[in-house]
Amino acid sequence: MNSSVFSFLSDFVFLLLLFSQIPSSLSNDDLFTACKKEFVCGNISAGFPFLGTGRPSACGIPELELMCNENNITTMNINQVAYRVLEINREFKTLRIAREDYLAGLCQPQFANSTFNPKILEPVEGNINYTLIYGCEDASANMPGRRSFSCKIKDVDGQSGYIKEGENGPGECNGSVIVPVSITDSITEMNTSDLEEQLKKGFEVRWKVDMDLCWECASSSGVCGFDNVTNQATCYYPGMHSPPEISL
Ligand SMILES: *[C@@H]1O[C@H](CO)[C@@H](O)[C@H](O)[C@H]1NC(C)=O
Ligand SMILES: *[C@@H]1O[C@H](CO)[C@@H](O)[C@H](O)[C@H]1NC(C)=O
Ligand SMILES: *[C@@H]1O[C@H](CO)[C@@H](O)[C@H](O)[C@H]1NC(C)=O
Ligand SMILES: *[C@@H]1O[C@H](CO)[C@@H](O)[C@H](O)[C@H]1NC(C)=O
Ligand SMILES: *[C@@H]1O[C@H](CO)[C@@H](O)[C@H](O)[C@H]1NC(C)=O
Ligand SMILES: *[C@@H]1O[C@H](CO)[C@@H](O)[C@H](O)[C@H]1NC(C)=O
Ligand SMILES: *[C@@H]1O[C@H](CO)[C@@H](O)[C@H](O)[C@H]1NC(C)=O
Repeated sequence: MNSSVFSFLSDFVFLLLLFSQIPSSLSNDDLFTACKKEFVCGNISAGFPFLGTGRPSACGIPELELMCNENNITTMNINQVAYRVLEINREFKTLRIAREDYLAGLCQPQFANSTFNPKILEPVEGNINYTLIYGCEDASANMPGRRSFSCKIKDVDGQSGYIKEGENGPGECNGSVIVPVSITDSITEMNTSDLEEQLKKGFEVRWKVDMDLCWECASSSGVCGFDNVTNQATCYYPGMHSPPEISL
């Protein structure tokens, strides 16, 4: 009698366990399937730590969201600045990005400095900062040589500006934008057309996400994702139970 009560109870507990684990098991499987899928857009492809366009938020770091536009061009926003993604190098953990506003020359600036969350992205060695300064009374007086330019901004023609190495404020002019630029050996002191060219080629930033866990995860046939509760990389396995916090 005692033993049959025990047996009934243990079956009951077993069933409880079974039912409480089925949903999370399915959801981890879904996460595995979702995060196994790569981001693909034109000739750019990416896995962890990126998300976006088919990769849900559980698959990557919130700040590293990629978008694919109708022309198969990859873009991303970093600290409110729009960039085009030109290349992703998984081995070196680098992205080559170019500011969207400067792809069409210097005259349609988005007035925001290029800044990066140092925990997530860092500019690589081999970049220097340049400042583009807009809305000056007479830029060529400030900056002689070929480092001043003239723009039509907000329907005002002939607004003059200039470029200057380093991180600068607008001074007596109306606005300034700081942007990293790849150093090229061939150019010692950039003029405006050199800078225009360099801005189109973009610059590199490195993602500072530790990938070791992900290599381990992959070698045990899992796929890396991002646990937004612990704020850490996590591993999803096909058809295995998941802790409740990563279930959808
Ligand atoms: C990707 O394609 C674009 C043109 O669509 C080309 O300019 C670029 O060099 C290609 N990038 C790579 C890494 O192949
Ligand atoms: C974008 O890429 C997809 C998949 O490769 C292709 O089917 C589509 O035609 C491309 N669109 C454009 C505008 O190139
Ligand atoms: C460029 O400026 C940013 C701040 O605006 C700074 O964090 C970064 O270190 C600078 N890069 C270089 C190469 O001086
Ligand atoms: C700077 O901005 C102010 C206010 O918008 C404007 O009145 C002034 O003309 C601008 N200066 C130049 C040099 O563009
Ligand atoms: C960019 O940074 C400089 C120096 O820190 C600052 O003076 C300037 O106002 C900033 N520009 C914008 C658009 O925020
Ligand atoms: C800018 O400098 C490059 C060399 O760095 C030169 O070939 C080019 O003619 C210059 N452009 C202007 C507008 O001065
Ligand atoms: C964490 O991710 C889950 C889905 O995986 C989502 O429902 C939830 O809103 C996310 N929480 C935060 C704080 O982003």
